[in-house]
Amino acid sequence: MSVGRARYLWAALAAAALAVAAGAAWVLWSRSGPGAGLYSRLWRPEPVHAYWAPATFYASPRTVAGRFEGERCVGCHEGVTPGIVRDWRASRHAAAEPRVWCSACHGADHERLRMPTPQVCGRCHARQQRDMLAERRWGFPSHALALERALEAPHFVDKPKAEVAACLQCHSVAQKCDSCHTRHRFSAAEARRPEACMTCHSGPPHPDDATYFASAHGRRYLAEGARWDWSRPLRRGSYPAPTCAYCHMHGGRHQVADKAIWRFGIVEVNPNTSANRVKRRRWVAVCADCHDAKQARAWLRGLDAERRAAWRLLYAAERLLRRLRADDLLHPGPGERPPYPNSRLDRLWPRARIGFYEGQASAFFNVSPIEREYFEMWYFDSLAAYKAAAHGDAAGVRRAHAALRRRLEGIRAAAARLRALGEAEQRRLGRRLPADPALWLEGPYTTRYLEEN
Ligand code: HEC
Ligand code: HEC
Ligand code: HEC
Ligand code: HEC
Ligand code: HEC
Ligand code: HEC
Ligand code: HEC
Ligand code: HEC
Repeated sequence: MSVGRARYLWAALAAAALAVAAGAAWVLWSRSGPGAGLYSRLWRPEPVHAYWAPATFYASPRTVAGRFEGERCVGCHEGVTPGIVRDWRASRHAAAEPRVWCSACHGADHERLRMPTPQVCGRCHARQQRDMLAERRWGFPSHALALERALEAPHFVDKPKAEVAACLQCHSVAQKCDSCHTRHRFSAAEARRPEACMTCHSGPPHPDDATYFASAHGRRYLAEGARWDWSRPLRRGSYPAPTCAYCHMHGGRHQVADKAIWRFGIVEVNPNTSANRVKRRRWVAVCADCHDAKQARAWLRGLDAERRAAWRLLYAAERLLRRLRADDLLHPGPGERPPYPNSRLDRLWPRARIGFYEGQASAFFNVSPIEREYFEMWYFDSLAAYKAAAHGDAAGVRRAHAALRRRLEGIRAAAARLRALGEAEQRRLGRRLPADPALWLEGPYTTRYLEEN
């Protein structure tokens, strides 16, 4: 190679190295604000976040000084927090030999207390902590990644604080082990019951509870669960019908992500890749505790068929919106509506987002009415249909698909109206009327959410 050519190569390499270093510096900088995650400079934690994300935000009070033996903690806290002491006394921790005192989890120095993270529990329960950490290899969603996932979702920082303060209450599952066996009983029996999951796995984007209770499994649980012996582990032969943890944490594995194919359900996947076939076999093995494997496989193929049907309807709605956009009939369009506060790119290069791959995931608000209808379809109706199909709630599938079709018809009709209006303007005035940006850019909601989070 000639000397001249080599110089170009070095210049390119140096520029690339510089770009990588600058990128890394930018990420470090953006993570070093008062909040946490990639947008840490755009929000401030609330006091309660100290408990929901203890590894990140907890700092001990300094109102009581001294190091105490376990017995002293219990003695004084009989008066300070009697409920906690009562629960602790009823727990396996208080019955164990040697006892697991308050100080084993919180530390002995009262000016340097800690709120126990999975690492602290993992000193004595290494298997459970390891299982949970190992979820990371499956990516999100997963309990291990739940906190990062919420903090780095654009809508977490884009929306007013009052609307997003509670995200971390559920997504705290990554930083504390008391989500399913609540403090200070820490009971395994409690965690085996579906109620342990419902605190978080409920509501329109993830109606796991409603679909489960409507299924044959859930109905059986509702009818006779009160008489089941919950001290038995989640294995074949222990329970007549499965609960959430029976299926998703089979054998007591503290992993919920190792079998998931459709995952959250917000994007179409191919269930027949070799990786997904392995996961499906794991599912069938769980069902085979009680059902014929062939039958179980057929039921799960029914889920895939339901998903394909739902995505046909979603894609039909996306196509209608894309055509409107191409004909400049979608208003307020990009540039006419408030930019996402955290996205500089959005200000420089405003663009409409239709469909998951264009970034629909961040279109939780701040879109035109017809796009919002599509959002309702994609986020609520489709996810309701998915969970109903996954959990065996046949009536729920019918209801949700009826809603999907109804909304698609609504979008079709609205698209036709917009088209007629656009053509009428063109015919009468020879031009399209501009949208009124004030309506969108200066409303009270807009000003509120543009304030710092
Ligand atoms: C002499 C009484 C006394 C003793 C002994 C004592 N505590 Fe406390 N503890 C308190 C009081 C009072 C508070 C409330 C402090 C506050 O809110 O500022 C408290 C609060 C706490 C909290 C809650 C902190 C928070 O941020 O919410 C924990 C955890 C705690 N104690 C654990 C312990 C442990 C572990 C021990 C033994 C090592 C212990 N305590 C011994 C009186 C005591
Ligand atoms: C097995 C571990 C463990 C033991 C033992 C334990 N705690 Fe806790 N404690 C926790 C966890 C986990 C939390 C919740 C942490 C969070 O929310 O970030 C907690 C939270 C607390 C809190 C603050 C939140 C609340 O519910 O008010 C207090 C106060 C507290 N513990 C006191 C005690 C006292 C007193 C004892 C002994 C009687 C004790 N703990 C024993 C694990 C433990
Ligand atoms: C110092 C060691 C130690 C620490 C720290 C500890 N544990 Fe335990 N844990 C035990 C022992 C010992 C038992 C009783 C085991 C037995 O009886 O077989 C137990 C039992 C349990 C059980 C089973 C209860 C049941 O109903 O069968 C759960 C759940 C549990 N711990 C959760 C936790 C969580 C969550 C944390 C952290 C917040 C934690 N533990 C921290 C030692 C510890
Ligand atoms: C404290 C709240 C909380 C509790 C309690 C909870 N989860 Fe979750 N779970 C979450 C969150 C948050 C996510 C999504 C995490 C993310 O965004 O990556 C999740 C995700 C999941 C997933 C999706 C995994 C995937 O790969 O698609 C499954 C399955 C799951 N949880 C099962 C359960 C079961 C079963 C229970 C009860 C035994 C339970 N969860 C209890 C908060 C919780
Ligand atoms: C009631 C509990 C709860 C609250 C509150 C909550 N989430 Fe979640 N979130 C979940 C559960 C459960 C899942 C997983 C659902 C599944 O896999 O079916 C989830 C999934 C997610 C996912 C998708 C994970 C992925 O990788 O696909 C993101 C992102 C997310 N939540 C962000 C947020 C944000 C931001 C907020 C606040 C505006 C929030 N969540 C509030 C429980 C909650
Ligand atoms: C998503 C819910 C969930 C979370 C989060 C969770 N557990 Fe559990 N845990 C369970 C269930 C369900 C069981 C019962 C398993 C069985 O029957 O085999 C259980 C059982 C246990 C047991 C008793 C095991 C035995 O064989 O008796 C321990 C110890 C335990 N968990 C510790 C932890 C620790 C440590 C963490 C945090 C790293 C944690 N758990 C987080 C649901 C959960
Ligand atoms: C009979 C077993 C079974 C029971 C019981 C069950 N699920 Fe599921 N769940 C499934 C199957 C199968 C899927 C779809 C999995 C896929 O597409 O890979 C699923 C999907 C999910 C998902 C989406 C993430 C994933 O793993 O694909 C969550 C979250 C979830 N269930 C939570 C729950 C909760 C919470 C309960 C209890 C209220 C529950 N499940 C009860 C079998 C079960
Ligand atoms: C612990 C036992 C158990 C496990 C595990 C289990 N089921 Fe079931 N299942 C039952 C019982 C009991 C019924 C209600 C009686 C019946 O209809 O056979 C039932 C009913 C059903 C039904 C309704 C059947 C009908 O004819 O209406 C479907 C569908 C179903 N299960 C699917 C599954 C799938 C899929 C899995 C695995 C993801 C699974 N089950 C795991 C026990 C189980």
